[in-house]
Amino acid sequence: MTGHVFIATSLDGYIARPDGDIGWLLARDDPQEDHGYDAFIADKDAIVMGRGSYEKVATFDTWPYDRPVLVLSRQLAGTPVPDRLRGKVRFADLAPLDAMRALEQDGARRVYVDGGQVVQAFLRAGLIEDMVITTVPVLIGAGRRLFGELPGDRDLALVASRSFPSGLVQSTYRVLP
Ligand SMILES: NC(=O)c1ccc[n+]([C@@H]2O[C@H](COP(=O)([O-])OP(=O)(O)OC[C@H]3O[C@@H](n4cnc5c(N)ncnc54)[C@H](OP(=O)(O)O)[C@@H]3O)[C@@H](O)[C@H]2O)c1
Repeated sequence: MTGHVFIATSLDGYIARPDGDIGWLLARDDPQEDHGYDAFIADKDAIVMGRGSYEKVATFDTWPYDRPVLVLSRQLAGTPVPDRLRGKVRFADLAPLDAMRALEQDGARRVYVDGGQVVQAFLRAGLIEDMVITTVPVLIGAGRRLFGELPGDRDLALVASRSFPSGLVQSTYRVLP
């Protein structure tokens, strides 16, 4: 079981504004550019995300995922999944390792891990194998952080890096054991 991150961040390290707004990110998404999401998701079996990410995606007109999604949340665990997402989404209050074990029981092996707090928790638990980080050339000054406190340094190996005409810079890192 391995966790994999594919996420965009402002240059100053935020994935969303304090209220969860990602308009600054969507505004810079050039549909002419392939930032590699389809290739990334192709070999993932399931998605785990935090309530913060779920609550944003749930406002979209269409549900964007065709993989089973496990939403980690103390608040949502035990509450019913909205009708339109039944069979696509599960809510659970699980620690990272237990979440991975639950997904493994469903046959998943490679898991897309999404959401700032959840990525941080999975990194602390040593469950992330690699991260594709796309840096957007904007400073937003405040917001929800991609990375946070760690019990110790985590060494990463740069696997690849590329830039796009739009100014996005995408780096792939392997998390070293
Ligand atoms: N820039 C990007 O590429 C990108 C990607 C993903 C998301 N986003 C944006 O980022 C925002 C969400 O990120 P976020 O960092 O605020 O939240 P998040 O990681 O998506 O969700 C955090 C919530 O997950 C729940 N949770 C359950 N178990 C947890 C655990 N073990 N560790 C941490 N959290 C756990 C908690 O909710 P309870 O209080 O219910 O327990 C916590 O408040 C949204 O605005 C979303 O649109 C941006």
